[in-house]
Amino acid sequence: MSEELLSKRALTIEPSLTLEISAKAKKLAEEGIDICNLSAGEPDFDAPEEVISATSKAIFDGFTKYGPAAGDLELRNAIANKLELQNNIKYDFENILVTNGAKQAIYNLFQILLNEGDEVIIPSPYWLSYPQIVKLAGGKPIILETSPKNGFKIDGEQLKDKISSKTKFIIINSPNNPTGKVLCENELLEIIEIIRKHDQINILSDEIYELILNNTVNHIPIVSLAKDLEDRIYTVNGFAKGWAMTGWRVGYLAGRKDVIKSSSSLQSQSTSNVCSFVQKGAIEALKIKKEYFEEVNLIYDERRQVLSEGLKDIENIYLNPPNGAFYAFPQLPNTNISSVDFCKKALEDFGLVVVPGIAFGDDQCIRISCATSKSNILDGLKRFKKAINKFY
Ligand SMILES: Cc1ncc(COP(=O)(O)O)c(C=O)c1O
Repeated sequence: MSEELLSKRALTIEPSLTLEISAKAKKLAEEGIDICNLSAGEPDFDAPEEVISATSKAIFDGFTKYGPAAGDLELRNAIANKLELQNNIKYDFENILVTNGAKQAIYNLFQILLNEGDEVIIPSPYWLSYPQIVKLAGGKPIILETSPKNGFKIDGEQLKDKISSKTKFIIINSPNNPTGKVLCENELLEIIEIIRKHDQINILSDEIYELILNNTVNHIPIVSLAKDLEDRIYTVNGFAKGWAMTGWRVGYLAGRKDVIKSSSSLQSQSTSNVCSFVQKGAIEALKIKKEYFEEVNLIYDERRQVLSEGLKDIENIYLNPPNGAFYAFPQLPNTNISSVDFCKKALEDFGLVVVPGIAFGDDQCIRISCATSKSNILDGLKRFKKAINKFY
């Protein structure tokens, strides 16, 4: 397509690095080649039955028309209630916008709050859409590097160095995609302490993996530790990961009322309301008891452990073991081969599908998903070991 045809905005969007590899994997599988796919970014479970029943009932009950742009009132109230109980923040429905997944919550927020040239600090490794969404809103991503050998810790001094008069946001994502790191209270307090001193800086806390945790750690919502910063903290969350509802497209943005109102206006002029009957399913999802998540986490715990232990047994691979989400982000032996080339070769020679770390800001790592069966993980580990032995 001619570059002249495309808007300047469209030209800032980078194509997804993972697409090429997925397309190749699909082609090889169609040719009958045995593929082991450890690239999934979504749970391999179905959504809970009660959610499916409530959603289909909602269709028969006629919740099939346009609804309010900001979301179903009952759902907005239920989310406000959840946040009050779990995040210890006094919200009502006007603090909540229901969105087409957490992604649209982030997109709306930056469209509403960023001006041309505003800077957004993004600790790396990061979820690959953050820099793109920031750029689409005219903002400038400022990458703050963390390293596996340092436990992916956000260093306070380095954070201070990245702050300028143009800094408008920092993104915090715990549990993290792709590293599986869960920030502890002290780490969060250190970040809060630094941000507190800069009135112009807001925090976007992406908590989409809050329910996928191993039993040694807790998820701490950042807003629960910084009552005085309530007006500067925006929480993004959704039903995709915890409830295995990726394709349902329902998430939310929580924050100050004037910003939510403005984001709702943006939504009313772009996508309108989230699917009416899916929102009824989301209300049911919020009623599910903690035992359900405990059971799901037992499965993820075992898989995460199988993956971590398998990776640790491979010579020259460094792993900072994940405590949450469903990924591991091992470091390759050196930078002689780019992460994209490694992933291409691992696919071509060993039928292994994993995601290049460069997509997440670290070219020496790769992302391996454990949102798949234990036997698939074990098979993938064998192939990964062979690839390491062959290419390094
Ligand atoms: C860290 C993170 N945030 C947000 C999202 C987007 O979630 P949703 O599917 O609700 O838009 C993802 C999806 O992979 C993610 O990994």
